[in-house]
Amino acid sequence: MKDLVGIKEISRQEIEEILNTARAFKEVLTRDIKKVPTLRGKTAINLFFEPSTRTRTSFELAEKRLSLDVLNFSVSTSSVVKGETLYDTLKTIESYNVDYIVIRHSASGAAKFVADNTPACVINAGDGTNEHPTQALLDAFSIVEVKGKLDGLKIAIVGDIIHSRVARSNLYLLSKFDTEITFVGPPTLLPSDVPSNVSISYDLKKGIKDADVVMLLRIQLERQKGAFIPSLKEYFHVWGLKGDAFSYLKKDAIVMHPGPMNRGVEISSEIADSPRSIILRQVTNGIATRMAVIYLLTRREV
Ligand code: CP
Repeated sequence: MKDLVGIKEISRQEIEEILNTARAFKEVLTRDIKKVPTLRGKTAINLFFEPSTRTRTSFELAEKRLSLDVLNFSVSTSSVVKGETLYDTLKTIESYNVDYIVIRHSASGAAKFVADNTPACVINAGDGTNEHPTQALLDAFSIVEVKGKLDGLKIAIVGDIIHSRVARSNLYLLSKFDTEITFVGPPTLLPSDVPSNVSISYDLKKGIKDADVVMLLRIQLERQKGAFIPSLKEYFHVWGLKGDAFSYLKKDAIVMHPGPMNRGVEISSEIADSPRSIILRQVTNGIATRMAVIYLLTRREV
Protein backbone atom coordinates (compact mmCIF):
# COMPACT_ATOMS: atom_id res chain seq x y z
CA MET A 1 0.00 0.00 0.00
CA LYS A 2 1.10 3.57 -0.66
CA ASP A 3 -1.46 5.19 1.65
CA LEU A 4 -3.69 4.53 4.61
CA VAL A 5 -6.79 6.58 3.87
CA GLY A 6 -9.37 4.37 5.53
CA ILE A 7 -10.02 1.03 7.18
CA LYS A 8 -12.82 0.40 4.68
CA GLU A 9 -10.27 -0.26 1.92
CA ILE A 10 -7.98 -2.67 3.79
CA SER A 11 -8.38 -6.37 4.49
CA ARG A 12 -8.45 -8.33 7.74
CA GLN A 13 -5.07 -9.80 6.75
CA GLU A 14 -3.57 -6.31 6.32
CA ILE A 15 -5.01 -5.24 9.68
CA GLU A 16 -3.46 -8.29 11.35
CA GLU A 17 -0.11 -7.50 9.72
CA ILE A 18 -0.25 -3.94 11.10
CA LEU A 19 -1.14 -5.21 14.60
CA ASN A 20 1.67 -7.79 14.55
CA THR A 21 4.18 -5.16 13.41
CA ALA A 22 2.92 -2.77 16.12
CA ARG A 23 3.55 -5.51 18.71
CA ALA A 24 7.21 -5.70 17.59
CA PHE A 25 7.55 -1.91 17.74
CA LYS A 26 5.98 -1.82 21.21
CA GLU A 27 8.87 -4.00 22.38
CA VAL A 28 11.32 -1.47 20.89
CA LEU A 29 9.63 1.25 22.97
CA THR A 30 10.46 -0.60 26.21
CA ARG A 31 14.21 -0.45 25.50
CA ASP A 32 16.63 2.15 26.90
CA ILE A 33 17.14 3.49 23.39
CA LYS A 34 13.61 3.67 22.00
CA LYS A 35 14.65 4.28 18.44
CA VAL A 36 15.41 2.23 15.31
CA PRO A 37 17.34 3.46 12.24
CA THR A 38 14.75 1.95 9.86
CA LEU A 39 13.69 5.12 8.02
CA ARG A 40 16.82 7.25 8.46
CA GLY A 41 17.16 9.80 5.66
CA LYS A 42 13.42 9.91 4.91
CA THR A 43 11.13 12.83 5.75
CA ALA A 44 7.62 13.08 7.19
CA ILE A 45 5.37 16.11 7.45
CA ASN A 46 2.45 16.39 9.83
CA LEU A 47 -0.24 18.52 8.23
CA PHE A 48 -2.91 19.25 10.83
CA PHE A 49 -5.75 21.53 9.73
CA GLU A 50 -7.73 20.68 12.90
CA PRO A 51 -6.66 20.64 16.56
CA SER A 52 -5.17 17.46 17.98
CA THR A 53 -3.27 16.36 21.06
CA ARG A 54 -2.96 12.55 20.94
CA THR A 55 -2.79 11.91 17.19
CA ARG A 56 -0.33 14.68 16.46
CA THR A 57 2.06 13.97 19.32
CA SER A 58 2.02 10.21 18.81
CA PHE A 59 2.62 10.53 15.06
CA GLU A 60 5.57 12.82 15.79
CA LEU A 61 6.97 10.40 18.36
CA ALA A 62 6.39 7.43 16.03
CA GLU A 63 8.23 9.21 13.22
CA LYS A 64 11.15 10.15 15.48
CA ARG A 65 11.38 6.60 16.88
CA LEU A 66 11.73 5.43 13.24
CA SER A 67 14.55 8.02 12.69
CA LEU A 68 12.55 10.08 10.19
CA ASP A 69 13.21 13.80 9.76
CA VAL A 70 9.97 15.48 10.89
CA LEU A 71 8.31 18.72 9.86
CA ASN A 72 5.25 19.95 11.74
CA PHE A 73 3.01 22.18 9.69
CA SER A 74 0.99 24.63 11.72
CA VAL A 75 -2.02 25.88 9.78
CA SER A 76 -2.52 28.97 11.94
CA THR A 77 0.97 30.28 11.07
CA SER A 78 0.98 29.12 7.44
CA SER A 79 -0.14 30.70 4.17
CA VAL A 80 -3.43 28.79 4.47
CA VAL A 81 -4.66 31.79 6.47
CA LYS A 82 -3.84 33.94 3.38
CA GLY A 83 -6.11 31.73 1.29
CA GLU A 84 -3.66 29.15 -0.10
CA THR A 85 -5.58 26.04 -1.22
CA LEU A 86 -5.02 22.50 0.02
CA TYR A 87 -3.73 21.57 -3.47
CA ASP A 88 -1.17 24.38 -3.55
CA THR A 89 -0.11 23.67 0.03
CA LEU A 90 0.39 20.03 -0.96
CA LYS A 91 2.41 20.89 -4.07
CA THR A 92 4.60 23.25 -2.02
CA ILE A 93 5.33 20.53 0.53
CA GLU A 94 5.89 17.97 -2.22
CA SER A 95 8.65 20.20 -3.64
CA TYR A 96 10.72 19.22 -0.59
CA ASN A 97 10.51 15.58 -1.77
CA VAL A 98 8.85 14.38 1.44
CA ASP A 99 8.20 10.67 1.84
CA TYR A 100 5.25 10.69 4.27
CA ILE A 101 2.36 13.12 4.70
CA VAL A 102 0.12 12.77 7.74
CA ILE A 103 -3.03 14.82 7.30
CA ARG A 104 -5.93 15.82 9.53
CA HIS A 105 -8.62 17.94 7.92
CA SER A 106 -12.20 18.97 8.66
CA ALA A 107 -13.35 17.93 5.16
CA SER A 108 -14.34 14.30 4.59
CA GLY A 109 -12.33 13.08 1.61
CA ALA A 110 -9.36 15.44 2.15
CA ALA A 111 -6.93 12.57 2.83
CA LYS A 112 -7.99 10.73 -0.35
CA PHE A 113 -7.62 13.95 -2.35
CA VAL A 114 -4.07 14.39 -1.05
CA ALA A 115 -3.22 10.70 -1.59
CA ASP A 116 -4.43 10.87 -5.20
CA ASN A 117 -2.29 13.92 -5.91
CA THR A 118 1.12 12.98 -4.53
CA PRO A 119 3.65 10.15 -4.83
CA ALA A 120 4.31 10.46 -1.07
CA CYS A 121 2.71 8.00 1.36
CA VAL A 122 -0.36 9.62 2.88
CA ILE A 123 -1.81 8.68 6.26
CA ASN A 124 -5.26 9.91 7.23
CA ALA A 125 -5.14 11.31 10.76
CA GLY A 126 -8.89 12.05 10.66
CA ASP A 127 -10.94 13.60 7.83
CA GLY A 128 -14.23 15.24 8.78
CA THR A 129 -16.82 12.65 9.76
CA ASN A 130 -15.33 10.04 7.39
CA GLU A 131 -12.49 8.01 8.94
CA HIS A 132 -9.73 7.99 11.55
CA PRO A 133 -8.01 4.73 10.60
CA THR A 134 -5.02 4.81 12.96
CA GLN A 135 -7.40 5.39 15.92
CA ALA A 136 -9.31 2.20 15.03
CA LEU A 137 -6.03 0.31 14.65
CA LEU A 138 -4.71 1.44 18.03
CA ASP A 139 -8.11 0.61 19.55
CA ALA A 140 -7.95 -2.90 18.07
CA PHE A 141 -4.35 -3.29 19.27
CA SER A 142 -5.39 -2.24 22.79
CA ILE A 143 -8.38 -4.63 22.84
CA VAL A 144 -6.22 -7.53 21.70
CA GLU A 145 -3.61 -6.68 24.36
CA VAL A 146 -6.25 -6.89 27.11
CA LYS A 147 -8.69 -9.49 25.75
CA GLY A 148 -6.25 -11.54 23.67
CA LYS A 149 -8.50 -11.44 20.57
CA LEU A 150 -11.15 -9.57 18.62
CA ASP A 151 -13.15 -12.54 17.35
CA GLY A 152 -16.08 -13.45 19.59
CA LEU A 153 -16.22 -10.13 21.43
CA LYS A 154 -19.34 -8.03 22.05
CA ILE A 155 -18.56 -4.37 21.52
CA ALA A 156 -20.87 -1.47 22.38
CA ILE A 157 -20.14 1.89 20.72
CA VAL A 158 -21.86 4.62 22.72
CA GLY A 159 -22.75 8.23 21.99
CA ASP A 160 -22.35 10.63 19.09
CA ILE A 161 -21.94 7.98 16.40
CA ILE A 162 -23.42 10.04 13.57
CA HIS A 163 -20.62 12.65 13.71
CA SER A 164 -17.79 10.26 14.64
CA ARG A 165 -15.00 9.24 12.25
CA VAL A 166 -13.67 7.06 15.07
CA ALA A 167 -16.96 5.13 15.14
CA ARG A 168 -16.91 4.66 11.36
CA SER A 169 -13.33 3.36 11.29
CA ASN A 170 -14.02 1.07 14.25
CA LEU A 171 -17.20 -0.18 12.58
CA TYR A 172 -15.26 -1.05 9.41
CA LEU A 173 -12.47 -2.72 11.37
CA LEU A 174 -14.62 -4.70 13.81
CA SER A 175 -16.92 -5.85 10.97
CA LYS A 176 -13.91 -7.60 9.36
CA PHE A 177 -13.70 -9.77 12.49
CA ASP A 178 -16.30 -12.02 14.10
CA THR A 179 -17.58 -9.38 16.55
CA GLU A 180 -21.07 -8.42 17.75
CA ILE A 181 -21.44 -4.64 17.48
CA THR A 182 -24.14 -2.55 19.16
CA PHE A 183 -24.65 1.18 18.61
CA VAL A 184 -25.97 2.77 21.80
CA GLY A 185 -27.27 6.33 22.08
CA PRO A 186 -30.17 8.68 21.56
CA PRO A 187 -31.86 8.30 18.14
CA THR A 188 -30.68 11.78 17.09
CA LEU A 189 -27.03 10.71 17.38
CA LEU A 190 -27.31 7.34 15.61
CA PRO A 191 -27.02 7.10 11.81
CA SER A 192 -30.11 6.19 9.76
CA ASP A 193 -28.13 3.72 7.60
CA VAL A 194 -26.95 1.27 10.26
CA PRO A 195 -25.43 -1.85 8.63
CA SER A 196 -27.31 -5.14 9.09
CA ASN A 197 -24.54 -6.64 11.27
CA VAL A 198 -25.02 -3.88 13.88
CA SER A 199 -27.67 -3.90 16.64
CA ILE A 200 -29.14 -0.69 18.04
CA SER A 201 -30.05 0.21 21.61
CA TYR A 202 -31.64 3.42 22.82
CA ASP A 203 -31.09 2.33 26.43
CA LEU A 204 -27.60 2.68 27.92
CA LYS A 205 -27.93 -0.06 30.51
CA LYS A 206 -29.49 -2.61 28.13
CA GLY A 207 -27.02 -1.67 25.39
CA ILE A 208 -23.84 -2.21 27.41
CA LYS A 209 -24.63 -4.78 30.12
CA ASP A 210 -23.44 -7.77 28.03
CA ALA A 211 -20.55 -5.96 26.35
CA ASP A 212 -16.93 -7.07 26.65
CA VAL A 213 -15.84 -3.65 25.41
CA VAL A 214 -17.61 -0.31 25.89
CA MET A 215 -16.31 2.35 23.49
CA LEU A 216 -17.43 5.84 24.46
CA LEU A 217 -17.35 8.71 21.97
CA ARG A 218 -16.95 12.43 22.43
CA ILE A 219 -19.98 14.65 21.84
CA GLN A 220 -18.75 16.57 18.77
CA LEU A 221 -20.40 19.94 19.26
CA GLU A 222 -18.19 21.47 16.55
CA ARG A 223 -19.75 19.15 13.92
CA GLN A 224 -23.35 19.34 15.16
CA LYS A 225 -25.44 21.64 13.00
CA GLY A 226 -28.60 21.79 15.09
CA ALA A 227 -29.83 20.65 18.49
CA PHE A 228 -29.10 16.93 18.74
CA ILE A 229 -29.33 16.81 22.55
CA PRO A 230 -31.23 19.09 24.97
CA SER A 231 -28.08 19.93 26.97
CA LEU A 232 -24.73 18.40 27.99
CA LYS A 233 -26.04 18.09 31.55
CA GLU A 234 -29.02 16.06 30.38
CA TYR A 235 -26.83 13.95 28.10
CA PHE A 236 -24.64 13.04 31.07
CA HIS A 237 -27.70 12.26 33.16
CA VAL A 238 -29.10 9.79 30.58
CA TRP A 239 -26.11 8.63 28.48
CA GLY A 240 -23.01 9.39 30.52
CA LEU A 241 -21.18 6.34 31.90
CA LYS A 242 -21.21 6.75 35.68
CA GLY A 243 -20.27 4.75 38.77
CA ASP A 244 -23.60 2.86 38.88
CA ALA A 245 -22.46 1.01 35.74
CA PHE A 246 -20.06 -1.01 37.93
CA SER A 247 -23.15 -2.85 39.26
CA TYR A 248 -24.35 -4.09 35.88
CA LEU A 249 -21.33 -4.16 33.54
CA LYS A 250 -19.68 -7.54 33.01
CA LYS A 251 -16.96 -8.05 35.61
CA ASP A 252 -14.21 -8.05 32.96
CA ALA A 253 -15.69 -5.41 30.65
CA ILE A 254 -13.28 -2.67 29.61
CA VAL A 255 -14.07 0.98 28.93
CA MET A 256 -12.44 2.90 26.08
CA HIS A 257 -12.54 6.48 24.83
CA PRO A 258 -10.50 7.87 21.91
CA GLY A 259 -10.17 11.24 23.63
CA PRO A 260 -10.38 14.05 24.16
CA MET A 261 -12.93 12.96 26.76
CA ASN A 262 -15.36 15.32 28.41
CA ARG A 263 -15.60 14.35 32.06
CA GLY A 264 -19.14 14.92 33.26
CA VAL A 265 -20.52 14.57 29.71
CA GLU A 266 -19.65 11.14 28.25
CA ILE A 267 -17.95 9.73 31.30
CA SER A 268 -17.58 10.31 35.04
CA SER A 269 -14.15 10.58 36.66
CA GLU A 270 -15.06 7.51 38.72
CA ILE A 271 -15.15 5.42 35.52
CA ALA A 272 -12.41 7.26 33.61
CA ASP A 273 -9.88 6.78 36.40
CA SER A 274 -10.95 3.23 37.33
CA PRO A 275 -9.05 0.02 36.48
CA ARG A 276 -11.80 -0.75 33.93
CA SER A 277 -10.67 2.20 31.82
CA ILE A 278 -7.93 1.55 29.23
CA ILE A 279 -8.00 5.11 27.93
CA LEU A 280 -4.34 5.87 28.69
CA ARG A 281 -3.28 2.48 27.33
CA GLN A 282 -4.95 3.54 24.05
CA VAL A 283 -2.83 6.71 24.06
CA THR A 284 0.38 4.74 24.73
CA ASN A 285 -0.42 2.28 21.93
CA GLY A 286 -0.83 5.11 19.44
CA ILE A 287 2.95 5.32 19.03
CA ALA A 288 3.66 1.65 18.20
CA THR A 289 0.58 1.38 15.98
CA ARG A 290 1.51 4.49 14.01
CA MET A 291 5.13 3.29 13.72
CA ALA A 292 3.77 0.09 12.17
CA VAL A 293 1.58 1.94 9.68
CA ILE A 294 4.41 4.27 8.59
CA TYR A 295 6.85 1.34 8.31
CA LEU A 296 4.52 -0.78 6.17
CA LEU A 297 3.67 1.88 3.57
CA THR A 298 5.71 2.18 0.37
CA ARG A 299 6.21 5.38 -1.58
CA ARG A 300 5.28 5.38 -5.28
CA GLU A 301 8.33 5.89 -7.48
CA VAL A 302 8.11 8.77 -9.96
N1 CP B 1 -8.32 10.55 19.42
C1 CP B 1 -7.92 11.69 18.82
O1 CP B 1 -7.97 11.82 17.61
O2 CP B 1 -7.49 12.65 19.69
P1 CP B 1 -6.85 14.04 19.23
O3 CP B 1 -7.94 14.85 18.58
O4 CP B 1 -6.32 14.68 20.48
O5 CP B 1 -5.76 13.73 18.24
